[in-house]
Amino acid sequence: MAEGQRGDRLLGESPAFMEVLELVSQVAPLDKPVLIVGERGTGKELIAARLHYLSRRWDQEYVKMNCAAISESLMETELFGHEQGAFTGAQKSHRGRFERADKGSLFLDELATTSPLVQEKLLRIIEYGEYERVGGNKTLVADVRLIAATNEDLPTLARKGKFREDLLDRLAFDVITLPPLRSRPEDILILAEHFAVKMAMDLGREYFPGFSMSARKVLRSYHWPGNIRELKNAVERSVYRSTDPDHPIDLISLDPFESPYRPTRQGDPAPVVRETSDETAAPSLTPSVPAVDDFPIDFRKSVQDYEVGLIKSALAASQFNQKKTADALGVTYHQLRGYLKKYDLLDSP
Ligand SMILES: Nc1ncnc2c1ncn2[C@@H]1O[C@H](COP(=O)(O)OP(=O)(O)OP(=O)(O)O)[C@@H](O)[C@H]1O
Ligand SMILES: [Mg+2]
Repeated sequence: MAEGQRGDRLLGESPAFMEVLELVSQVAPLDKPVLIVGERGTGKELIAARLHYLSRRWDQEYVKMNCAAISESLMETELFGHEQGAFTGAQKSHRGRFERADKGSLFLDELATTSPLVQEKLLRIIEYGEYERVGGNKTLVADVRLIAATNEDLPTLARKGKFREDLLDRLAFDVITLPPLRSRPEDILILAEHFAVKMAMDLGREYFPGFSMSARKVLRSYHWPGNIRELKNAVERSVYRSTDPDHPIDLISLDPFESPYRPTRQGDPAPVVRETSDETAAPSLTPSVPAVDDFPIDFRKSVQDYEVGLIKSALAASQFNQKKTADALGVTYHQLRGYLKKYDLLDSP
């Protein structure tokens, strides 16, 4: 357990997570750029903050910038600032994030979406520590530690020419890869209890009555494509939806869209697993078709992995009722039993 950012605790004891924390402590004191990668909701933002607060720059500015949230031209002025009169409407000069982060750290979140122009300027600032404000000719010096995060595979993007390889080399002095929640099974219940206790307190309840055995089973076996954020949402929803505050939580509400009245277009199959409320990306159960340069792959194993993933999610979503699971997958009960036997899932999880 550790302080990630004021008030935000980083929970977890699994070996995979402890390894990450160890690497964070080792790399934090160095003044080198660090890249944090991991699926969505794995805690990249918390780890970035921890890197800053464990560094020698901890008492200086920690400035954040979400590169996906703004347009290319705005991004340039946000990062590097602009001089008065640099463009129509620039009535005053503006300090960019690099200037504000001087002597401190700058966290570039969702880095993969930056344009070629911004990538070029970033390269220069890392290489020479110099830049100019937009519309300015005075060269400024940046003493900034860069921390970047993405859930994209930057080496693949670089190979395809969508991200500068030379920038990647410089940004990724070291790379911290956050494990998905399904690779940290030991942490699921620790995190779930933490979010549940907090939610119960927020609701003014005297205590949190715990999870039932079957709820624990669902929490442990679901594959959590949205990782910790999805777990947090599911747990909080389950706590406030539970009507008897003295009774252990039995139903884990994995899918906020679930309703018999849910509008679906005629003929659309009901999706097995839905994303949680703050996610808009495509369901990550959908297998991504490999890109040209990803081949060769193990075709049979890929198909089997996908089948196992679907079955496990459907089981969890149906609270382990096999009849409901078969319905959710559109197979007969006997076909489902066949799959469970084939993949050794009869005692799942
Ligand atoms: N180890 C942890 N302990 C407690 N809470 C955590 C931990 N890791 C992540 N969280 C919580 O999970 C949520 C998601 O974390 P965060 O926003 O850092 O993820 P992310 O990797 O940046 O996601 P995205 O790629 O979608 O931006 C936040 O509410 C965060 O507080
Ligand atoms: Mg994030």
